[in-house]
Amino acid sequence: MIIMILAALTMIPIFGLWGFFELKHIVKKEYIIESPDIPESLDGKKLALISDQHGIFQGEDNKRVFDILDNVSPDLIVIAGDMVNGRGKHELRYVSRFLKRTSKYDVPVIYTFGNHEEKMHKHHPRAYKRLKRIAKARSILLNNRAYCPKDMQDVMFVGLNLPLEMYHAHDEENLIYRRTKRIIRRYDEKYNGSTTDPASDKRYKILIAHDPEHLKKYSESGYNLCLSGHLHGGIIRIPFLGGLVTPRFQFFHKVSKGYFETGKMKTVVSGGVGWHDIPLRIFNKPEIPVIIFKRTTN
Ligand SMILES: [Fe+2]
Repeated sequence: MIIMILAALTMIPIFGLWGFFELKHIVKKEYIIESPDIPESLDGKKLALISDQHGIFQGEDNKRVFDILDNVSPDLIVIAGDMVNGRGKHELRYVSRFLKRTSKYDVPVIYTFGNHEEKMHKHHPRAYKRLKRIAKARSILLNNRAYCPKDMQDVMFVGLNLPLEMYHAHDEENLIYRRTKRIIRRYDEKYNGSTTDPASDKRYKILIAHDPEHLKKYSESGYNLCLSGHLHGGIIRIPFLGGLVTPRFQFFHKVSKGYFETGKMKTVVSGGVGWHDIPLRIFNKPEIPVIIFKRTTN
């Protein structure tokens, strides 16, 4: 018994050091998404998914992030929320600088806020206003809005931005279902003059939703692909069991990171680039998922 206790006590600092070491080893994780629904305009394109930076610098001026982006040369960049911690205006410079650097790729950079941007909304409303201005000036800000890239009119990105109280809440009143559908309806009314019949709508619809808790509702709303983050991969990954604990202390969450299918919808959940409060990741390196789209014939 004493030997077991001693062994456990020895392992704790070793894992702690390993967890600290992993924080700085960001990796690229490739996903190939194949489907006959992928339009020609998206076939072969690469999308880099960045989420949950929490104001962390991966190297000087985020060199390690941009080294990966340089290597990938993405056609689209999606930022799926939590660039900041929501603690005040001192975080704005980080966002501004990061978005400025992404603009050098000359590709659409699509940014949808997460719960930590919404924390800034609640606790630092003036900083939040400035954050929105920065995001609008330096990216395509999709907070409950839709966007079709100029050369991909048959591809629609929808950014779902939820109020803080909807995170980890049950969608009993179908708010999420209604909101995800309403965004598309509004877009069509504004740009096409009428709504599109869902049955004949052939657009490939990509939902950016920071929180992957509601995949069933997203799928029921008719999306082909969902891009999420938020759960930090479960912080400590245990072989065969997955992520141990999310930042909200949920144990062994089913969708803490990776690839999932819900009905006809596919989902990629990023384990995130950064961390907050406790600098630790074990067997769960910071990551940038890169999605490669492949159109199939059947
Ligand atoms: Fe989050």
